[in-house]
Amino acid sequence: MDALTLISQDHSNLWRLATTIDQVASEIEHGAAVEQAFFASVFDYIEQFVDRSHHPKEDDYLFRLLRLRNPDAAAVLDSLQTEHRDGPAKLSTLRLRVAEAARGQFTVGLLAEALRDYTVGLKAHIRTEEKSVLPLARSSFLDADWAEINHAFLDNKDPLFGDKANAEFRQLYHRIASLAPESIGLGASSVGDLQASAAPAQGEVILRVQGMESCYGRIKALKGISLEVRRGETVALVGANGAGKTTFLRTLSGVQPMSAGRIHLDGQDISKLRSDLRMRCGICQSPEGRQVFGPLSIEDNLKLGAYTQPRHQTEGDMEKIFTMFPILKEKRALPAGTLSGGQQQMLAIGRALMGRPKLLLLDEPSMGLAPLLVEEVFNVIKTLKAQGMTILLVEQNAFAALAIADRGYVLETGTVTLTGTGQELISNEQVRAAYLGM
Ligand SMILES: Nc1ncnc2c1ncn2[C@@H]1O[C@H](COP(=O)(O)OP(=O)(O)OP(=O)(O)O)[C@@H](O)[C@H]1O
Ligand SMILES: [Mg+2]
Repeated sequence: MDALTLISQDHSNLWRLATTIDQVASEIEHGAAVEQAFFASVFDYIEQFVDRSHHPKEDDYLFRLLRLRNPDAAAVLDSLQTEHRDGPAKLSTLRLRVAEAARGQFTVGLLAEALRDYTVGLKAHIRTEEKSVLPLARSSFLDADWAEINHAFLDNKDPLFGDKANAEFRQLYHRIASLAPESIGLGASSVGDLQASAAPAQGEVILRVQGMESCYGRIKALKGISLEVRRGETVALVGANGAGKTTFLRTLSGVQPMSAGRIHLDGQDISKLRSDLRMRCGICQSPEGRQVFGPLSIEDNLKLGAYTQPRHQTEGDMEKIFTMFPILKEKRALPAGTLSGGQQQMLAIGRALMGRPKLLLLDEPSMGLAPLLVEEVFNVIKTLKAQGMTILLVEQNAFAALAIADRGYVLETGTVTLTGTGQELISNEQVRAAYLGM
C-alpha cells in the first residue's frame, strides 16, 4: 500500500463520520436527545485523528512535495491548508454549541444546522483532495518523492501514524461506534476498552490444510484446497458468492464433512475429529449470519461459547468480552434476539472468543452492518490481531479484508486461484478487476 492510498482510506473514514454526524443531526431535529458523550467522542476523534495526525501528515509530506513538483497546485493547497489551520477553532465552537444545546441554551434546530455546516465543509475539503490533489500528486511525484513519502508512512514507530498512534485511534473510534445511537451504532451508554494488551507473536505454521475436498450430494464445492496459517497471522479468504468460502470454514470447524484431504492444527492431525473436539483444540468460529441463539440471553450465548472450557474461567473471560463491548453487559440478561444486527455481530465474535481460540474463524463479520459498524468490526479485528490472535477472515468486503491481512487467498469455484500478501493481492490487476471493483 502506498502513502496516498492510506490518505485516501483516512478520507473514506472521515466521510463516513461526516455522514454519521448528518444522520444524528437529523435525528435530534426529530426529537432525539443531544447525547453529549457521543458528540464528545466524535469531536475527540476528529481532534486527535484529523487535527493531530491527518492534516499534519498531509502538510508535511503530500502538500510539501506537491508544491515542489507542481507550482500550479499552490492555490488549491493554500486554501486547503487554511482549512487545516482553521479546523481546531471550528471544532471548539461546535463543542460549545452541543453543550449549550444540551443545557437548552441553543435550539436543536440551530445545532443541527451548525453540524451540517461543518460536514458540508468537511466533505468539500475531502472532495477537493480526492479529485484534484491526489491525482496531481500521482502524476507529478518523482521516484524520490514516492520513496520519501512511502518510507515515512510505513514507519511503525512514527508518533503521528505508527502502531501506537493507530491503537489510540482505534480506541477513539471504538468510543464513537459504542456510543452512537442504535440506528447507526451500538447504542451503548458506556465505552469499553479496545487497547492491545500483548505484543503480537508471529511464528510457526499453526494450521495446515492439504487437498481439502467437500461435497453437497454430487456437487463438489471444494476441489482440493491447500492453505496455511502461521501463528499470529491474519489470513483473508476472498472470492465471489458461491466460491466456497463458507463451506471451507465449516469443513475446517468440522460441521461439514470433508471427503478428502488433511487438516493439521499445531502439528496434530485433526482431520477425523468431531467438531466439538476441534473446538476444544482451539478452532472457534463466528459463523456467517452471526447465528446467535435468539431466545437465550446474551450471557447464556457467551457461556455456550465457553462450553469446552473449564468452568472457573467463564466469569473472567466474560468480563473481558464485556470490557470490549459494554453494550453486551448492559443487556446481558436480555434475549439475544432483541439485539440489533451490529450488537449480534459483536456477540457472535464474543462467543467465539469465549472458546479461547488458537485460531479464530470469522465468516463475513461485516455483512449487513451500518457503515460505522462495518468500520468498527475491522477495528475490532485489528485489535485482536494486535493482541496476537491468529485469524482466518472470510469477507465479501475484499479490500478491507486484504488491507488488514498479512496474507490472502483468492477462492474461485472451490479452488485457490491466487495467493500472496494482502498488499500483493490488492495490487494484483486480476484481483482489482474481479473483487475490488477497480
Ligand atoms: N447446503 C447446501 N446444499 C447444496 N449446495 C450448497 C449448500 N451450501 C452451499 N452450497 C453450494 O456450494 C457452493 C459454495 O457455497 P458457499 O456457501 O461455501 O460459498 P461462499 O463463498 O461462502 O458464498 P457467499 O459469498 O455467498 O457466502 C455454492 O455453489 C453453493 O451453491
Ligand atoms: Mg459464505
